[in-house]
Amino acid sequence: MKNVKVMLTDREIPNKWYNIAADLPTPMKPYLHPGTGQPLQAEDLAAVFPMNLIEQEMSTERFIDIPQAVLEKYLIYRPTPLVRAYNLEKILDAPVKIYYKNESYSPAGSHKLNTAIAQAYYNKEFGIKRISTETGAGQWGCALSLACQMFGIDCRVFMVRVSFEQKPYRRLMMNTWGAECIPSPSPRTKIGKKILEQFPDTPGSLGIAISEAIEDATTQEASRYALGSVLNHVLLHQTIIGLETMKQFEQIGESPDVVIGCAGGGSNFAGISLPYVRGKINGSKVDIIAAEPTSCPTLTKGPFAYDFGDLAKTTPLIAMYTLGHDFVPAPIHAGGLRYHGMAPIVSHLLKEGLIEARAYNQLDTFQAGVTFARTEGIIPAPETNHAIAAVVQEAKKAKEEGKEKTIVFAFSGHGLLDLSSYDAYFENKLTPYELPEEEIQRALKTIENFPKP
Ligand SMILES: Cc1ncc(COP(=O)(O)O)c(C=O)c1O
Repeated sequence: MKNVKVMLTDREIPNKWYNIAADLPTPMKPYLHPGTGQPLQAEDLAAVFPMNLIEQEMSTERFIDIPQAVLEKYLIYRPTPLVRAYNLEKILDAPVKIYYKNESYSPAGSHKLNTAIAQAYYNKEFGIKRISTETGAGQWGCALSLACQMFGIDCRVFMVRVSFEQKPYRRLMMNTWGAECIPSPSPRTKIGKKILEQFPDTPGSLGIAISEAIEDATTQEASRYALGSVLNHVLLHQTIIGLETMKQFEQIGESPDVVIGCAGGGSNFAGISLPYVRGKINGSKVDIIAAEPTSCPTLTKGPFAYDFGDLAKTTPLIAMYTLGHDFVPAPIHAGGLRYHGMAPIVSHLLKEGLIEARAYNQLDTFQAGVTFARTEGIIPAPETNHAIAAVVQEAKKAKEEGKEKTIVFAFSGHGLLDLSSYDAYFENKLTPYELPEEEIQRALKTIENFPKP
């Protein structure tokens, strides 16, 4: 009998997160205060995040202890299995071993719960009673709703309107876990009202929803905002994925040649890859690939520039690959990959040549996802399909080159609540959308006069 799954016992769960800030060969550009243009101080973020998370955001300590209460909640679904995709390998007929780290195993259905639990815990510790957030595909909103329920915190989620309409069951999951879910833009906030007056039919964007959630959080008592990706502390929490993966590979005496993850704001990709980037910095040979959509090609087409994280310019200026903060991507089905910016850590690593990025169109990603579903059984989230498209491409390359390779990818979430997007694919309603060059140039005009990193 072949060994298909590599499992860790509960006792083997890593008890520290890995902070890549301790190992970067070159320093990252600081966040800038939008008013003064000076590097941001911890107090500048105090109205938005609890101080214990701000400390993590700025920490350069290599390993950070995972609190006992967080580990206890992780154990509901972690350690997650590392699975050898024998059936996919067979159909690809290439000299590759393919493994996937199954983050769809979490009750909320994706990797997002790894940071949601940590953020809810730290907010609770700091005395916060209510958290506002945004969600794209709905995965983050679901994860935070569940995490807030675990720690007895109220939760309000602004959901990008197009996803709210495409995915009604996501809202119901949030409601089941006790949260309120509102389509964004909404009349609940000043910025939402303003956008609705100007563009009543807008599909919404993560940039708009973030602005609404920050406004909502900063105008209420004992209330804070939580972000599901992009920021350093979020990526830190997600490293549990890569740390477990490394332990699992050690157990079978192997190590991957290629590490792949899809990237929206960058936390899933960072989660699986940052421990491997550490190895690469220290001399190991591994290709690390971020997969994104051609409709929102932040890493592959955007410039590395200072920009805001949201439309209303409420966030600090962040040095990152960006398509411009007022960029509204086409309503493709991978809602979680429709963000104009990218995590500053992921951006920095790309600029330094430690990772690479590739873009895939909707048709190729769904084709890859359907192949996975028909071989391995699990129906992937449309976001995850981007990683699978990269796996298929790498397998073909290995076949052409006649090279043996071991590939691992982050299976970031299942697509059981995204079946309408599979329906659109089967009905030939999806197009291989590529972002027109003029749209990139238009959106970039808005950041022309910002400080240069
Ligand atoms: C299943 C799934 N995978 C990947 C992503 C991208 O997330 P990240 O921001 O971590 O890159 C999302 C975002 O919502 C998601 O839902």
